[in-house]
Amino acid sequence: MTDQESETPKLNFDRLAGLYRWMEWLSFGPYLDRCRRAFLPELADARRALVLGDGDGRFTAALLKRNAAVCVDAIDVSEAMLESLKFRAGAGAVRVRTQARDVRVWTPREEAEYDLIVTHFFLDCLTADDVRRLAERLRANLQPGVRWVISEFAIPHNAFGRWVARPVVSFLYWAFRVLTGLQVERLPDWQSALQAAGFQRATERRFLRGLLTSQLWVLPQSPNQDLATGVRL
Ligand SMILES: C[S@@+](CC[C@H](N)C(=O)[O-])C[C@H]1O[C@@H](n2cnc3c(N)ncnc32)[C@H](O)[C@@H]1O
Repeated sequence: MTDQESETPKLNFDRLAGLYRWMEWLSFGPYLDRCRRAFLPELADARRALVLGDGDGRFTAALLKRNAAVCVDAIDVSEAMLESLKFRAGAGAVRVRTQARDVRVWTPREEAEYDLIVTHFFLDCLTADDVRRLAERLRANLQPGVRWVISEFAIPHNAFGRWVARPVVSFLYWAFRVLTGLQVERLPDWQSALQAAGFQRATERRFLRGLLTSQLWVLPQSPNQDLATGVRL
């Protein structure tokens, strides 16, 4: 453990590792999983994926199954979650390297050459500043064309957002604070953080009336490239 890590507030997701999928199913049924898999077919050509905070590894297992060539680096603060991830990967586990690290104080290896980053329901465990620092650190080691797939909760700007989504998200933060010690209390503005680091949103799919969003972001060839048209502005 680095000095920085020993000073960072401790998180304990270990105790959720065995329960997590059941808690998810009881609260949101199949929707979180649909959200995670929204862009899975588009990822068949990925070769080196960095998967941050994948928890018990259901997305990693699905990616390995769908894409027989991809190798995955999976980083998670919870050893127990990473054990579940390796178990769930089955025969694909030979293509997975895990690291139990706190992403807030972790730096990617310079030679990693990722072409895909995945964060499903993970950026909401970070503050906006944490996400900004993470996006900048990743950006420094990535080549143009890299894709970043993200699933998150969202609060739509309408009555459903006010009366349903906001209380649901507040309840989830309360539950995670009690269960894991998570200090974050609100959804970070991760979209601005990604934009500031030079990423552009390519496409989005929403679920449950906008409570869940799945987005595909790309690091364009040139900062002025318009992803919709491919034109350099
Ligand atoms: C809410 S769970 C989401 C799990 C999974 N990605 C999903 O789609 O449901 C958050 C995961 O991120 C991990 N995590 C939370 N904060 C972290 C941090 N600062 N560094 C590394 N992993 C973290 C937790 O251990 C947990 O596995």
